Amino acid sequence: MTEFATPRGTVDILPDDWAHWDFVVDTARRIAGLYGYRRIETPTLGDVSLYVRATGEATDIVQKEMYAFRDQGGDDLTLRPEGTAHVVRAYFQHVLNRLPQPVKLYYIERMYRREAPQRGRLREHHQFGCEAIGSADPAVDVEMLALLHQFYGALGLSGLTLHLNSMGDGACRPAYLQALTAYLQVHQAELAALDRERLSRNPLRVLDTKEARSQAVVAGAPSILDYLCIPCREHWHAVRAGLEALSIAYEVDPALVRGLDYYTHTVFEFQAPYEGAQSAVGGGGRYDGLAETLGAPPTPGIGFGSGIERLILTMKEQGVMPPPPARLRVYVAHVGQDAASAAGRVSTALRAVGVAVIMSFGSRSLKAQMKAANSAGAYYALIIGEDEVSTGTVTLRDLASGQQMTLPESEVAAAVVPWDTPPPGLETRDSK
Ligand code: HAM
Repeated sequence: MTEFATPRGTVDILPDDWAHWDFVVDTARRIAGLYGYRRIETPTLGDVSLYVRATGEATDIVQKEMYAFRDQGGDDLTLRPEGTAHVVRAYFQHVLNRLPQPVKLYYIERMYRREAPQRGRLREHHQFGCEAIGSADPAVDVEMLALLHQFYGALGLSGLTLHLNSMGDGACRPAYLQALTAYLQVHQAELAALDRERLSRNPLRVLDTKEARSQAVVAGAPSILDYLCIPCREHWHAVRAGLEALSIAYEVDPALVRGLDYYTHTVFEFQAPYEGAQSAVGGGGRYDGLAETLGAPPTPGIGFGSGIERLILTMKEQGVMPPPPARLRVYVAHVGQDAASAAGRVSTALRAVGVAVIMSFGSRSLKAQMKAANSAGAYYALIIGEDEVSTGTVTLRDLASGQQMTLPESEVAAAVVPWDTPPPGLETRDSK
């Protein structure tokens, strides 16, 4: 132990965690590729004003969660709290608007929010996110939801619910806000203190409440869906029809407003079937007004972010295991000085042909080395002792069955490489 530990709300990702991580990240990359998304990575640092303008002054992110600071040169910077603002900034900075539209980009990046840490809620988390910029076609919304649906299916998750809503746009939202504010003001005394304060800053945030006493009020609030203007209603119906044509189930959720101010039209969230505020495994929506907010020409866009830690939590909750590593691993054990140098030679020869090898270090008993081989998860032990050194051979042992064979050192690489098919006299663990 030292006196140091990870900062609150941050975690180490240890070797045993990587089977899940690699599986989620590889699946994300594969599925994004199937839909024609190409990878982008933006800097972890961003201008504070980019996030204030993009996500909105009255959001939790801007009010209390950004890791913002003034650097030695006087620049106001923050660790990236979310992915969309930087990607839209990059789209204009690199004139991607000249490419065929929409431009489809994905990222796998760390995000930083100074939230109260709890299960599934971290101060540093990772998101797989996609942004499709440059098309207002509702078919883009549908395709993005199909991508997410396929992604979660490929991870082996089940029982997720897709919540869907429309936020309207600049033409119809003001009338809705007026009606909502009037309603909430009438019921102000019934709201939790936090929500009374939200009502004064941004009434939409009240719909997002986690406070039980406010939820009763929210249940009776006017629905934004009753206030949509004709273009918003058409978009909403087109998205719903598109999902139905693909048999993607969803629930209309008029209280889904999301925690960021840039949304217009479609908003959505995939929720895992367990209780609590941390059930959203992914969410996003359209942001057709965002480009203008950042001083760029009006440009529609839509995207989502999906929290990788929450996905892994949900996989574990549901007992979904990542596929076992396909590559066979050999543990090289040796006894005696000459054997150690033979072990180094054989290990290098095996790695040169792509076989993963763990070689024993130091001088330990064969028994201790066999124990280490088992706990490393090796399929085979390759044993070199005095007899093997004197005859230029090695002994290969199948650790599951205990069967073994002795063969010339020069033949080991050839014998081990094709071991997806068992070598004569030995079975592989997979074939049992
Ligand atoms: P968000 O809903 O704030 O949206 O985050 C997206 C996802 O990231 C959440 O659904 C959740 O899975 C995960 N997440 C968020 N905060 C945390 C946290 N503190 N700890 C662990 N996981 C977390 C956005 O960030 C938008 N940029 C999504 C988007 C992209 N909208 C349009 N394009």
